[in-house]
Amino acid sequence: MKRRAIRYRRYVHSKWAKTKVLLSDPAIGRHIPPTKKLTAATLEEMLHQHKMVYVKPSIGAFGNGVIRVEWRPNTPQPYRYQRGLKKRQFDSFGEMSRSLLKLTSVRSYLIQQGIHLLTYRKKRFDIRVMVQKNTKGNWETTGIIGRVGDPRKVVTNVHNGGTLVPVEKLMEHYLPASRKSSFLQELRTLGVKVGQTLTNRYPGLKEIGIDVAVDNQVLPWILEVNTAPDPYIFRKLPDKRVFRKVYAYWKRHRPKRILKPLPKRYGLGIAKIRRRK
Ligand SMILES: Nc1ncnc2c1ncn2[C@@H]1O[C@H](COP(=O)(O)OP(=O)(O)OP(=O)(O)O)[C@@H](O)[C@H]1O
Ligand SMILES: [Mg+2]
Repeated sequence: MKRRAIRYRRYVHSKWAKTKVLLSDPAIGRHIPPTKKLTAATLEEMLHQHKMVYVKPSIGAFGNGVIRVEWRPNTPQPYRYQRGLKKRQFDSFGEMSRSLLKLTSVRSYLIQQGIHLLTYRKKRFDIRVMVQKNTKGNWETTGIIGRVGDPRKVVTNVHNGGTLVPVEKLMEHYLPASRKSSFLQELRTLGVKVGQTLTNRYPGLKEIGIDVAVDNQVLPWILEVNTAPDPYIFRKLPDKRVFRKVYAYWKRHRPKRILKPLPKRYGLGIAKIRRRK
C-alpha cells in the first residue's frame, strides 16, 4: 500500500531517488554529472578526481545548504569550500573534510562533479527547462529561461539573488546564430525524455523543472529535476505566450487540495504559509 502511494505521488523530493531513475536511461545518463552519496570516502575520491564538486542536501530547496568544494593543488591552503556567503580554506584534505562533514552530518547529502558554468557579464548562469504534461497527456517542454547567479554565491537560484534572463541572450556569445535553434531544440527534446523516463517510475508526475548547466563545450548537464517547479519565473520573458502556456498547464495540474485558501482563523493566506516553509 505504502509502495503504491510513493509510486503515484505528484512530488518526488529525494534528489538521489530521481538521479537513480534518470541514470537508468543511458541517453539521459550521459547528461548527468557523476553523482554519489556523500561520505568521507566519496568526498576524497570525487574532489581529487574532479577538483571541483558540489555537495547538496538530498532533499533541498532554493539552493540553501548547497556547498561548492575546490581543490587547487600547488596553492597555499589548496582545499576550499563555500556555502552561502561563507568561504573557508584549509591546508589539508583532512582538516577540510572534518569541517565539511560536520556541517553535513544531520541530513543526507549528495556529491556531484562540479560543472564550470558559462558566464554572462562575469556571472555564472544555468538554465531552467519547464516540462509539463499537455492536454493529451504527453510531456511537452513549455518554457526555457536562464538564471544568472549572484556573483558572491555558488548557486543561481532566484531565492538566492539570481536574476532571470532569456537564454537567447545568455548564449549569444557561445553559439553562432545558426546553432541557436538547434541548441534550444536539444534542450526541449532532453526535457521531454526526462519527463518520460521519470513517469515510468513515478506515473503521478505532471510537471518538472530541470536545472541544466552548460559547459564550455556547450554541452548540457542535468544538475537536478524539481517536481514542484515555480511557473511564475516565466513572467520575466518578453514573449508573453510562454508564461501563458506554462500557467495554463500549471493551473490545470495544480492540486486543488493544497491551494484552497485556509479558513480565516489561521490569519494567513496559503501563499504566506508556503513561503514560510
Ligand atoms: N554539479 C554542479 N555544478 C555546478 N553548479 C551546480 C551543481 N549543482 C548545483 N549547482 C548550482 O547550485 C544550484 C542549486 O543546486 P540544486 O538545484 O541541485 O539544489 P536546489 O536548488 O537547492 O534544489 P531545488 O531546485 O529543488 O530548490 C544550481 O542551480 C546551480 O547553480
Ligand atoms: Mg535547483
